[in-house]
Amino acid sequence: MKRQIKLRKPFSKELKKGKVKGEIILFQPLWVRIFHWGFALSLTGILLSGLELHKPAEFLAVNYGDMFKIHVISSWFALGFVAIRCTDALLRRDHSLIPKLHNFKLFPKLLAYYLFLRTSPPPRRKYNSGQALMYFSWFLLFLLASLLGFASYWQGEHLVWAWRLVGGFQHLRWIKFTITIYFLATIPVHIYLSLTENLSHLQAIVSGYERKPPPKKG
Ligand code: HEM
Repeated sequence: MKRQIKLRKPFSKELKKGKVKGEIILFQPLWVRIFHWGFALSLTGILLSGLELHKPAEFLAVNYGDMFKIHVISSWFALGFVAIRCTDALLRRDHSLIPKLHNFKLFPKLLAYYLFLRTSPPPRRKYNSGQALMYFSWFLLFLLASLLGFASYWQGEHLVWAWRLVGGFQHLRWIKFTITIYFLATIPVHIYLSLTENLSHLQAIVSGYERKPPPKKG
C-alpha cells in the first residue's frame, strides 16, 4: 500500500496561499545568467578542444581541422559572453566580480571554514572572498589566453609584440596549457561548492531569484 506524505499544516497552508516566508529577491539578473551558462558551455568547448589540439588522443578519431574550428568558434562565443557581462557590469555599476582588499584579508578565514577549523564562514557580500578572487583570476587568465590565442592565429601578421614578449611559439603553448590546467583544477571546486554550500544561490543562477535571508539578530 502506498503511504501518502502529509505536509505539516502551517506549511501546506502557506503553499496553498502561494506565500513563501520572507521576501523573494532578484539575486542574479538575466544578463548574468545568460553570461554564466553561455560562458560555462563555450569554455568547456575551448578546454576540451584545446587539450585535443595540444596532444591528440589516440582513441579519438577526430580531424585536427574540425577540432581547430570548434576551438576558435567556442573562443569567439566565450569572448562575446564576457563582453555581455562587462557591459552589464558597467551599466548596473556592479563591482561584485572585482576583489577588494577585504577579500584578501578574509580569504584565510574562509579557507579555515572550508577546512572545518571554523564553524561559520566570514561575512560576505554578493560573493565570498574565494569566489571573488577565483572569478577575477578566471577573467584575467581568459583574456591572457585569448590574446595569446589570437597572436598564434594571426602568426606574424598582427600582435607580433605579444608573441615576442612571451619568447616564441613554444612558450606561448606552455602558458596556454598551464592556464587550461588552472581552469580544470578550479572549475570542479566551483561546481562542488555551488552544489554543497548554499542551494539558494544555485537556484538563483538558474531562475534569478532566491529568498532574502532573515536579518541577523544582535
Ligand atoms: C554545473 C556547472 C556549474 C554550476 C552548478 C555553477 C553554479 C554557479 C553558482 C551557484 C553561482 C553563483 C555563486 C553564488 O552566488 O554564491 C555561479 C557563479 C559563477 N560561475 Fe558558475 N557554475 C557552473 C559552471 C561554471 C563554469 C564552467 C564556469 C566557467 C569557468 C563558471 C563561472 C562562474 C562565474 C564567472 C560566476 C560569477 C557570475 C557573475 O556574477 O558574473 N561556472 N556559478
